Formats: sequence, C-alpha cells, structure tokens
Amino acid sequence: MTELSDLGVLGLAVMGANLARNAARKGFGVALYNRHGERTDKLVEEFGHEGRFTATKELKDFVAALSKPRVIIIMVKAGKPVDDVIDDLVPLLEADDIIIDGGNSLFTDTNRRFDALKDKKLRFIGMGVSGGEEGALEGPSMMPGGEHDAYRRIEPMVTKMAAQVDGTPCAAYIGVGGAGHYVKMVHNGIEYADMQLITEAYDLFKTVYGLGAPDIADIFEQWKSSDLDSYLIDITTTVLRKQDEAAGKPLVDLIVDEAEQKGTGRWTARNALDLGVPLTGITEAVYARALSGQRKLRAEAEKILPHEAPAQMKPSQADIDAIREALYASKIIAYAQGFEQMTAASKEYGWDLKLGEVATIWRGGCIIRARFLDRIVEAYAKGGEIPNLVLQDYFRDAVLKAEVSWRKVVVLAVQHGVAIPAFSSSLSYYDGLRRSRGPANLLQGLRDFFGAHTYRRLDKDGSFHTRWGQDGKEEAIK
Ligand code: 6PG
Repeated sequence: MTELSDLGVLGLAVMGANLARNAARKGFGVALYNRHGERTDKLVEEFGHEGRFTATKELKDFVAALSKPRVIIIMVKAGKPVDDVIDDLVPLLEADDIIIDGGNSLFTDTNRRFDALKDKKLRFIGMGVSGGEEGALEGPSMMPGGEHDAYRRIEPMVTKMAAQVDGTPCAAYIGVGGAGHYVKMVHNGIEYADMQLITEAYDLFKTVYGLGAPDIADIFEQWKSSDLDSYLIDITTTVLRKQDEAAGKPLVDLIVDEAEQKGTGRWTARNALDLGVPLTGITEAVYARALSGQRKLRAEAEKILPHEAPAQMKPSQADIDAIREALYASKIIAYAQGFEQMTAASKEYGWDLKLGEVATIWRGGCIIRARFLDRIVEAYAKGGEIPNLVLQDYFRDAVLKAEVSWRKVVVLAVQHGVAIPAFSSSLSYYDGLRRSRGPANLLQGLRDFFGAHTYRRLDKDGSFHTRWGQDGKEEAIK
C-alpha cells in the first residue's frame, strides 16, 4: 500500500502546482487533484522527481490518499469555485479534517465558510498566500486564519514551506475566521498603493524630465541602496530595462496603459469606508486604476482639454533625491493607513491581530517585502498601542526629513499637469493629521443649518442647534 500523504493540493493551476511542489521539496507527501486530470499528469511528469506525489483523478481517491486528520489546500479562483469545491469535498471528509483556502477570498466569505464548516465539525482555514508564482514555489508569505487548534496541525508544514528571513518563517497564525484573508487583503491594498507611487515617480521622470525607461531604471537601481529598497523597486528596474528587440524600444513603452484588477484593492478601500478609516493612499490607487481603464475617454479628453507638454529639463541629483524622499514619505503614509485599518478591524471583528507579527511575516516571500518592514517590526516590538505609525520615532523622523521635498515634488507635478493622486493625497492626509484643529467646524455648522444635525462646542458641554435661517437663536439639545 502506498504511504498516505501529509497534504492534499486541489487546484493545480500555477499557484497550486507551485505550492504542491514546494511542499514536496520540503519532504511532505503531497496528494494532487485537479478537475482536469491532464494538469495533474503534467505536474507529475515534469516534477515528479522533486518529491513524494500521489496523483489522483477522482476526488474520493484524493481524500483517501491523505493521512488523518486530513489537510487539504484548495487553490481555485475566489468566489463560487471555492464554495463548489467545498460542497464536493464535505461529504467525503470526517470530523476534524482541515480545509485550507489558499486563494484571495473575500474575508466575509471566509467567515461564512468557517462557520458553516464548524457546524459540520470540519475545520476551515482561510490562508492568504503572497509571493506570486515564484513565491509559491520558493517560499511565500503565508497568513493563515481559523481555529488556533487547526493552525497547530498545519504549522509544521506552513512554517517549512514559507520564506525564511533571518531564520524566522514568514508564516504565523493571524486570528479566527476570516482574519488571515483580511490581512492578505490589506497586504494587497498596500501593494496597490506601493505600485501606484512607483508609477507616479516614473511618470514624473518621464513627463516632467523627459527621461527614457532605461534612464529611469538606473534611478530606481540607485534607490535599491536606500530605505526604499524593496521587491517592487527591484522588479521595477527589470521591467523598465526590458527591450522589445523586434520594435527596438523598451517593452514598457509598448504596454497598454490600462491597469486591470482582481478586486482585493477595491475590497480594502470599501472596508476602510465601512470602518471609517481614512485610507487615502490605497483608495487613490484603486481610483487611479479605474481612470486608467477609461482609455477611450482619456484619449478624447486629451483632444478637448489639451495640456502643454512641459519643457523637459534634465533632473539634477537633488531633483532625483526629492522624488525619492516624496515617494518614501508617501509610502510611509500608505503603510501607516493600512496598519491603522488593521488595528480598527481587529477591534471591530474581535481578532486581536498581532501587527508586529504581520509585519514580520511580510518581510519575506510576499510582494510588498521591503527593508522598511523591519522598522515596523521594531515599532511594534516596543509594545503599547500604536494608533498611527507616523507618530513612531523612526517614521516621524523620516516624514519630517522628507517634508520639504514632498511639497516640492507635489508642486512640480501640479505645475506641469502630471497626475499624482497617491503622492498628493498622502501629503494632504499628513497635513490633515498633524492639525489638532481642522476645518470640520464649518462643516458641522452647515450640517446643522440645513438638517438640524446639531454640533458640539469647544467652550460648553452638550449638543446645540442654531435656528440659522430663522431667529438665529441657539438652543441646547438634550
Ligand atoms: C500576491 C499578489 C497576488 C496577485 C494579486 C494581483 O500577494 O502574491 O497580490 O495576490 O498578484 O491578486 O492583484 P490585482 O490583479 O488586483 O492587481
């Protein structure tokens, strides 16, 4: 009889196949199942030598190939396919078996599935997996959420499969229900903001300074030795340097300027609205993708609303440094907002998220891995509540140091008609944050004028309404 497998992987598209190979390479026995059997055959044919695989063609054989309590990772498209696969699996499973959803599922779906499977005595883990194809194979960042008990069962596997940074695995228990998928959603939101900021810096170099893609790549290359050092900065240099040999041009100049999205950024922004968290950086990044998608409208608008092309001047090292500092400060804001959102979610959904650990497991394997995450880890290691990372020493010093450049770069873009929604909204957020008295007093007056919504006063307790349009008298509201 063949030895039972430690883990089942269901869904063998690139992410599933690579996770299966990763587990097998780490010495775990892996049972494989894919709806279309050819994928299973292909995987075993090409990579069967990498470890102990058991290929199956029927779901019941797949389940029978697993040691108990069974552990099955499903790697299928988020949404209905996840429910369909769970429905197919449930009748074949026994109490305490574990289903892990390793896709980018919406956390509220994960909450629902977690509860439904709990009623059936099955255990469900919603696990964010970040790192793309390469990460899945070489070691991703893994964000599992569900029952802690169930996590204990899978811990030896996920901590071995995950990326390792300084000997620490980039995988840790996140919290109950949909907490793991929630944290992955915010990771993706930050990924949106990070990429939008990089894109805006690129646009400034291209449009204001007239630099070509290879020259801009050289600048990003310089930045790899600064605090900005990150995976996304690194791959930016590769993307910008790639030449299309046939066209004799940088490939990036031939790519359609329309960004697609699968939805995680939009979910992050929507959830921030629900929680009342000012998530300007990520949300602007989502809107920027939406505007990029209106390509026809933009082409028409360019004709109707022409803008003079800036007189392009070569950037000095000081100009380049200013953009780097503005990018860094805006990036700090995006992360600070994302962490504030997780703090709010932790309270709202009762998750007790350990944000220092979240930052720790984002240091490697995932798309937003960056040197900068060490600073976030350090901030949380000090203990105590962190209402906003910008108020922590390191980040406070970094934004203060960048402030002059940040303003200069935003002014430069505005003067030249270059859209920088993430840079400028981050600066506006910062300016709003560091004022104890903002302008919402007027807003309250207006609300009270047309809707008798009442206001509070600085000099007296209680709520008040003024009969603005009538006798102008103020009354205290009980
Ligand atoms: C990751 C990525 C991954 C995927 C995004 C792309 O962490 O490995 O975030 O999850 O590439 O979902 O998202 P968009 O299609 O929305 O850009």
